[in-house]
Amino acid sequence: MEKKYKIYIAGHRGLVGSAIVRKLQNEGYRNLVLKTRTELDLLDQKSVTDFFAQEKPDYVFLAAAKVGGIMANKDFPAEFIYENLMVQANVLEQSRKNGVKKLLFLGSSCIYPRLAPQPIKEKYLLSGPLEPTNQAYAIAKIAGVITCQSYNKEFGTNFISAMPTSLYGQNDNFDLEHSHVLPSLIRKFYEAKKHNQNEITLWGSGKAKREFLHVDEFADAAIFLMKHYNDSEIINVGTNEDISIKALAELVKKITGFKGKILWDKTKPDGSPRKLLDVSKIHALGWHHKKTLEEGIRETFDWFQKSQKEIKVKN
Ligand SMILES: NC(=O)c1ccc[n+]([C@@H]2O[C@H](COP(=O)([O-])OP(=O)(O)OC[C@H]3O[C@@H](n4cnc5c(N)ncnc54)[C@H](OP(=O)(O)O)[C@@H]3O)[C@@H](O)[C@H]2O)c1
Repeated sequence: MEKKYKIYIAGHRGLVGSAIVRKLQNEGYRNLVLKTRTELDLLDQKSVTDFFAQEKPDYVFLAAAKVGGIMANKDFPAEFIYENLMVQANVLEQSRKNGVKKLLFLGSSCIYPRLAPQPIKEKYLLSGPLEPTNQAYAIAKIAGVITCQSYNKEFGTNFISAMPTSLYGQNDNFDLEHSHVLPSLIRKFYEAKKHNQNEITLWGSGKAKREFLHVDEFADAAIFLMKHYNDSEIINVGTNEDISIKALAELVKKITGFKGKILWDKTKPDGSPRKLLDVSKIHALGWHHKKTLEEGIRETFDWFQKSQKEIKVKN
């Protein structure tokens, strides 16, 4: 991926897209195409067609999607399936028609069967029933993977698909209801400490286990794959280390300085019992993560606190 090439990062204001932009800029890439949703709604086929015909990007990072935690997936399944199918169909088709050299599509560890053997190897895709709470999202993402593979087969494109584990970091969604578990824990503990609460209630049993990767490290992996991976088969990106939600809550409690008690609301769903990715394929290519989870959460919490102060100043 030479520096002169034009690179379109779809979803550049989101968690993943913004990290990819930061990393590309740090590496000296200057020919980046960035469009907000107001400037280019990727659900709109005509706008996407006109955009690609005009810009003709050489490389595409497809980091635009409808994304959310368990409750968002439960509350808005139709939006999750419709928007993800439309965005990816529009971008993949126009990338193909306009001669994009290479595209990176992002799936997720959610697309694997709910009870897949652990750690989850890439070959377990489509080997069993999905987790019901995020089925609509998973089906859309699986369709995206198959679309990339079908285009490569029929049209000779180079569309690769990475399956990131749960990501977190700067520019995440810290909404209390609809965000992913880690940003929602950071926000809940932050608010509990600020309001001197004696206790905090968290969702689920705390027994489910999850794997987390800092988004800056994912951006590093995404650019690494764009440079070195040219296979239609999906590739996992993670740390190969997981933690129970209970232990994660204790870690976030320590980092945020909350001193109260943690209660668990077991009427709320846990999601899949475990989602640990087998990352031997990306390790064999020479990519490894570096940051510990504690380092990553500390950085994210610092960023979150600063952004809260900026919001206050603006208001
Ligand atoms: N976060 C994770 O833990 C995680 C884990 C595995 C995989 N992934 C994958 O990584 C990708 C990015 O996720 P993320 O966490 O970065 O999500 P995010 O923070 O919600 O960002 C998504 C971005 O997509 C944009 N977008 C959505 N619909 C659009 C549309 N119709 N037109 C134009 N832009 C649109 C959003 O724009 P607005 O800002 O205007 O809404 C936003 O900038 C997704 O494919 C997701 O499946 C994420």
